[in-house]
Formats: sequence, structure tokens, C-alpha cells
Amino acid sequence: MLPKVLVINGPNLNLLGMREPDIYGSQTLDDINGKLAELAKELGLELDFFQSNHEGEIVDRIHRCISGIGGILINPGAFTHYSYAIRDAVAAVSIPCVEVHLSNIHAREEFRSKSVIAPVCLGQVSGFGDLSYFLGLRALAEEVV
Ligand code: DQA
Repeated sequence: MLPKVLVINGPNLNLLGMREPDIYGSQTLDDINGKLAELAKELGLELDFFQSNHEGEIVDRIHRCISGIGGILINPGAFTHYSYAIRDAVAAVSIPCVEVHLSNIHAREEFRSKSVIAPVCLGQVSGFGDLSYFLGLRALAEEVV
């Protein structure tokens, strides 16, 4: 059985493609997920996908990773900057996690430059558009394959 990675996208990322395309690009989340699925085949990983606009749903989904998920790739959206609940959930399940962002969160408004989740992740990839997800998945593969 191939190791399984869960790709989690947080609030407003369901609107990719139409949401501030000058910042987030013109691809939809389905476009990015399709490319991630291709890359996963190459890396020998199986992927699951989850998107939610609700903090508690993301916490619940992270808890369910305890059975069967070997790694988490997460773009927590705005929760990046203030969700101690998501941070604690990642720490609690103790599953390798990589945080990704389409935009460079360190080059935007000041509130975006802080991630409360990155300290419980293996690392963070930020600012490369969809490539952030692909680089993040490659990094995770090093841990879980
Ligand atoms: C984002 C950056 C966040 O600050 C923002 O709230 C998002 C998207 C990114 O991928 O660049 O929703 O996580």
C-alpha cells in the first residue's frame, strides 16, 4: 500500500481562479489538485483532498488522520495567522506536516508574515504559486515514502 498524504486547503481557497487572481493566479483548486495527483504518482504517494472554510472541520479532519494518513500538506489560508486550534491539532496527531502558500506571506500585509502553524510543521513553502504545493509535496515525500 502506498503511503497516504492528506492535502488540506483552508478558507476561501475553494474560490481560487476567481479570487484576487493577481495575487493567487488563475488556476482553480481542482487544477492544482489534479497536478498534485500527477506528481503523487511519480513520488509513489496516494493523496486525499480536503477543503473547508470552517476551523473546527479542519481540526476534526486532522484528528481523523491518526488512522491511515502518513503526511499532511496544508494551506491553512487566513487560519495560518491565528488558529491555535489548528496548530494544536497538527501537534497532537504528530504526523509530518508541510505548510504551503501561493503568495509570499512575508512580503504582504504585516499580519500575514506570522504563521502560528509553521512551528509545528517540518517547514513552510511560500510565494511560488502552485509550485509551493509541488515543492511541499516533494519535501513531504522525503519523510513519508
Ligand atoms: C494564503 C495566504 C493567506 O494569508 C491568505 O489568507 C490565504 C491564502 C496563500 O496561499 O497565499 O487565504 O494562504
